[in-house]
Amino acid sequence: MLTTFFILIAAYLVGAIPTGVILTRLTGGEDIRKTGSGNIGATNVYRTAGRKLGIITLLGDALKGLLPVLTVSLCFPADTTLIALTAAASFLGHCYPVYLGFKGGKGVATALGIFLVLSPLSVLLAVFIFAGLVWKTRYVSLGSISAAAAMPICILLLGNDTAIFTGALFISAIIIWRHRENIDRLIRGKENRFKA
Ligand code: G3P
Repeated sequence: MLTTFFILIAAYLVGAIPTGVILTRLTGGEDIRKTGSGNIGATNVYRTAGRKLGIITLLGDALKGLLPVLTVSLCFPADTTLIALTAAASFLGHCYPVYLGFKGGKGVATALGIFLVLSPLSVLLAVFIFAGLVWKTRYVSLGSISAAAAMPICILLLGNDTAIFTGALFISAIIIWRHRENIDRLIRGKENRFKA
């Protein structure tokens, strides 16, 4: 019980590290929370601080999900409940980080890292959906929302464990919820289009 508690706290604290905020601050840029969409994630870092920092933020945010889940999967391979809880903890860390007064990101890159460990094939399908939609519409948010919605379905169809499916459902719901302002802008035709 105590071990579980410490694992989840550690996963949360790792997930909460605000990669985009740290990188843009270190490189002397503007506060990412006050520019562009105001989101701390890779898309907004790319948009406001350039391609290089955007890509590094994507990798950093993905690693925050990948590393805790990979570690727990290797140490406790049979405990899928603990693995799913660890995924949820690191994901919640990114979305609600203690270091930023619980105002965090939308969770897409961190979820990418998590599901690369839990269901790589589902990630492949989700990435196809994401890339296709972004390529067609230039709306990253639309790609993210659709890929997030597809993830639990892919996980279910690929016959993954119930705990992993429940975790995916939880993560997917929060990603969509965190995109509510994007959804509003998409409906009003005011969403930012991605410029490469
Ligand atoms: O992953 C976040 C992306 O879907 C939307 O980012 O900055 O356009 O709100 P942003």
